[in-house]
Amino acid sequence: MDAVILCAGKGERLRPLTENRPKPMIPVAGKPILEHIIEKVENLVDNIYLVVKYKKEVIIEHFKNRPKIKFLEQGEIDGTGQAVLTAKDYVDGDFLVLNGDIIFEDDLEKFLKCKNAMALTEVKNPENFGVVVLDKDNNIIELQEKPENPKSNLINAGIYKFEDEIFEILEDIEPSERGEVELTDAIKELIKDRKIKGIKLDGYWNDIGRPWDILDANKHLLGKIKTSIKGKVEENVVIKGEVIIEEGATIKANSVIEGPAIIKKGAVVGPLAYIRPNTVLMENTFVGNSSEVKGSIIMKNTKIPHLSYVGDSIIGENCNFGCNTITANLRFDDKPVKVNIKGKRIGSVRKLGVIMGDNVKTGIQVSFMPGVKVGSNCWIGANCLIDKDVESNTFVYKKEEKIIKT
Ligand code: UTP
Repeated sequence: MDAVILCAGKGERLRPLTENRPKPMIPVAGKPILEHIIEKVENLVDNIYLVVKYKKEVIIEHFKNRPKIKFLEQGEIDGTGQAVLTAKDYVDGDFLVLNGDIIFEDDLEKFLKCKNAMALTEVKNPENFGVVVLDKDNNIIELQEKPENPKSNLINAGIYKFEDEIFEILEDIEPSERGEVELTDAIKELIKDRKIKGIKLDGYWNDIGRPWDILDANKHLLGKIKTSIKGKVEENVVIKGEVIIEEGATIKANSVIEGPAIIKKGAVVGPLAYIRPNTVLMENTFVGNSSEVKGSIIMKNTKIPHLSYVGDSIIGENCNFGCNTITANLRFDDKPVKVNIKGKRIGSVRKLGVIMGDNVKTGIQVSFMPGVKVGSNCWIGANCLIDKDVESNTFVYKKEEKIIKT
């Protein structure tokens, strides 16, 4: 059996994190989302076909030497159905399909016995998802797209098993209103003949669509790690909880690391730094003297050298923080932090810091209000308070104050 993983989407809700990488390549718990998915199917299948398009080179570069993995490029037409159709001449017999942006805990062996099947997960807010209605034999009898009145709290979890008849069905599907060939339209054809089963997944599941989903998945996966200290740890370092310090990482004197946390190869922490739970410092990052990082993902080559606080944030690659760069992550009224997602201002979670793209530089004493996004390649001048999103490639600076001589 083969698996097809859909990785071609533009990941627009996750800008600026997806400006230079496709969503499946965003690191969660120290490796790309896609690595976590591949781990789940690698031992079950002969071939893994990654359907790529947007920023495909990042995926190909990362996975090019993996024997089971092959790349298929989605053509001009968008949509998850079109992405599956890309695999038509490659897969052999029944096959698994997985969205390239889900983090889930359950294993997929229960899928192997089924013909057509869709994974389902139970959520508290089904109205935001594709809701699934089952008959008593677990055949899917209805799909409701983001319904006002959901008929169940079971939703489509983005994992499927298909027989190859799905390709014939997909070939006849017309693009939807948004111009995409939707996989769910093909599934509705299977439903008509009660030909697709619903299979409930146990345990954690998250469809990574918004920035705080990344931090939630990161926290879940870090909750599973076991301590492994292979890097260099200098004197008077305190390490509590489960912490992975990879070979080639250095923790300098008098730092405190509270797990769960992962500190990757080449990262340097301290002296006198404070790393708090649910933090990942990717390769070659630096968190220096009196800097504190909590519940955050700091991508590779980013430097936070001194006197800074980064909380509940996602910071891209190659950023450099001036002394005393501070992120706020909590509102005075404790209400969910508001974030702009594709032009709409929506409530997120109680604690959320800054969402930053790659190659951003901040001057000394820069502050970010909760939930702001800073695009890639920005410069934020000294002493600025950033309370609105900053477009990529922008230089934000404070106007000079005039000195009036009397
Ligand atoms: P999403 O619906 O989450 O779309 O796709 P997206 O493009 O990744 O994200 P947004 O909505 O722009 O923020 C679900 C999965 O299907 C893949 C995506 O890569 C994701 O893994 N997909 C989507 C494709 O492979 N091709 C497509 O044309 C669309």
